[in-house]
Amino acid sequence: MKVLVTGGAGYIGSHAVKELLKAGHEVVVLDNLANGHQEAVDKRARLIVGSTSDPDILLKVLRDDKIEAVMHFAANIEVAESVSDPHKYYTNNFSNALTLLEAMKTAGVNKLVFSSTAAVYGNPVKTPIEENQSLSPINPYGRSKMMTEMAIEDYRNAHGLGFAILRYFNVAGADPEAHIGEDHKPESHLIPRILAGANNPEVEVKIFGTDYPTHDGTCVRDYVHVMDLAHAHVLALESIKAGEGDIYNLGSESGFSVREVINACEKVTGKKLKIVEEARRAGDPATLIASSQKIKNQLHWKPKYPSIKTIVQHAWNWHQSHPDGFRTRSINPEALSQKHDNAKALSF
Ligand SMILES: NC(=O)c1ccc[n+]([C@@H]2O[C@H](COP(=O)([O-])OP(=O)(O)OC[C@H]3O[C@@H](n4cnc5c(N)ncnc54)[C@H](O)[C@@H]3O)[C@@H](O)[C@H]2O)c1
Repeated sequence: MKVLVTGGAGYIGSHAVKELLKAGHEVVVLDNLANGHQEAVDKRARLIVGSTSDPDILLKVLRDDKIEAVMHFAANIEVAESVSDPHKYYTNNFSNALTLLEAMKTAGVNKLVFSSTAAVYGNPVKTPIEENQSLSPINPYGRSKMMTEMAIEDYRNAHGLGFAILRYFNVAGADPEAHIGEDHKPESHLIPRILAGANNPEVEVKIFGTDYPTHDGTCVRDYVHVMDLAHAHVLALESIKAGEGDIYNLGSESGFSVREVINACEKVTGKKLKIVEEARRAGDPATLIASSQKIKNQLHWKPKYPSIKTIVQHAWNWHQSHPDGFRTRSINPEALSQKHDNAKALSF
């Protein structure tokens, strides 16, 4: 299939591009590079620098490139920023998604894979969270995604759009070859933040709350390897039928506590981290885990890298070979292949 990937220069989108190419699809990326990196886009894909806010660019690429399906990753992703600047999130995540949907309708493109989020559930009523749990997002980021989900369903009802909505939990890790990885500025995700501080003994790793009703007292969260997530996108894409849609959670199901993640980081990096235990933060649920049974049963998704150590190892390989992210100038290929051997040794 010929696939347009919006946000394909970003963290998850660039890994999805790689997986799409591996599966034999042709890829065009549309990214405004606001938070993405040109270097993250596989050379076999065509990169168009432009915004989903621009209906002319969208229509042109959908028509000229004879696009058959769209994977829509382009969005802003910082929950805290969405609280202080809701306009940015409703505009980019929701309004620009409407512009995309309308361009797809006009161009006759009727297959869409949409990046949604666990944030649409808000505080879980029950865990593991299943897809039919009621939606009750607690911040503008989550609400902007929920509204887009609703619009997608309305486009199915009105115009026969076929779709797969994928709700991810915490995405982590990197391409096992360490060519691409996570490079967010600012970085708000736990694993890359810990790894960025691993070489600096002064950097504190804070644990908020050690008295939760979990096996070790710290919060439990669901992590999924970015390549497993990318593979799920390909499976979802290939399953879409015009006029039909489905929603899938993507997580690891078991979850890992904050302490387990920190232990994995210490093991993989061989560094002792400076841990600081603090009081609970308001609004942090003890456990947030997805049920991913639906995608496993219906699309036969089987995560290849479920171990937290492998997830951290791949993130660490990327971090070490690209200490300044995509701005890292020269990468020593020998050092890289050595790290790949380490990765193999540590893949459990
Ligand atoms: N990272 C996670 O853990 C996580 C969890 C749940 C959901 N998601 C969702 O996955 C998607 C990708 O997240 P990510 O972590 O790769 O983020 P990212 O910031 O790395 O990637 C987003 C990309 O979209 C581009 N972009 C933003 N607005 C655009 C626009 N208007 N036009 C064109 N390009 C635009 C950015 O430049 C960037 O390259 C997002 O939709 C996010 O909400 C991510």
